[in-house]
Amino acid sequence: MEKPATTDHPILDVLTRRWSPYAFADRPIEPKKIRSLLEAARWSASAFNEQPWRFIVATKDDPDGFAKALACLVEPNRAWAQHAPVLILTVTRPTFTRNDKPNRVHLHDLGLAAQNLIVQATGMDLFAHQMAGVLLDKVREDYGIPQDYEPATAIAIGYGADPAELPEDVRAKEEAPRSRMPLSEFVFGDNWGEASPLVTTS
Ligand SMILES: Cc1cc2nc3c(=O)[nH]c(=O)nc-3n(C[C@H](O)[C@H](O)[C@H](O)COP(=O)(O)O)c2cc1C
Repeated sequence: MEKPATTDHPILDVLTRRWSPYAFADRPIEPKKIRSLLEAARWSASAFNEQPWRFIVATKDDPDGFAKALACLVEPNRAWAQHAPVLILTVTRPTFTRNDKPNRVHLHDLGLAAQNLIVQATGMDLFAHQMAGVLLDKVREDYGIPQDYEPATAIAIGYGADPAELPEDVRAKEEAPRSRMPLSEFVFGDNWGEASPLVTTS
């Protein structure tokens, strides 16, 4: 299903096409495509080139591994994410490896890497749905994550599917229109909270 962004200003086609579906086709993602997704994440920018992201990848080809990752999602996410062929659990390192000082932007950098992966996925006609609803302690325990790393999010990835198969409540979300704040609500100029003239004139 397509659910393109209705933009007020032109943006890249791949960004228009990205959205977070709940319906995934029962079709595996070719391993070389999964490698391309991870390679896209690899080439993300990060503060001091720290690359604080780590990805635990589970595919349906390995049912036990997939069940292990799926069990780390909160139940409402498990309900739909179980149909995706690939699950990624993301983990970050909140301190710099070179000096063990806090890395204030580790989650920012994980987000950049995740977005690189997702933009790459969109360009390859795949879809991704990110999740904060993750049982973080369970990820830590089940995968033996060391104390200097923090479990963060999950990402379900797969090919698109017909939302008709979804349970009623999820289907309603799938079919709901997408919405965003206007630029004037989050782009400020000289004073906090006052829209920059850049975005109030055309
Ligand atoms: C960090 C993050 C966490 C999210 N957590 C969840 C989640 O736990 N469950 C869920 O169904 N969607 C989750 N989402 C998806 C958002 O609801 C979705 O991205 C947002 O509504 C915008 O829709 P769009 O991605 O289709 O543009 C999450 C997205 C992000 C970026």
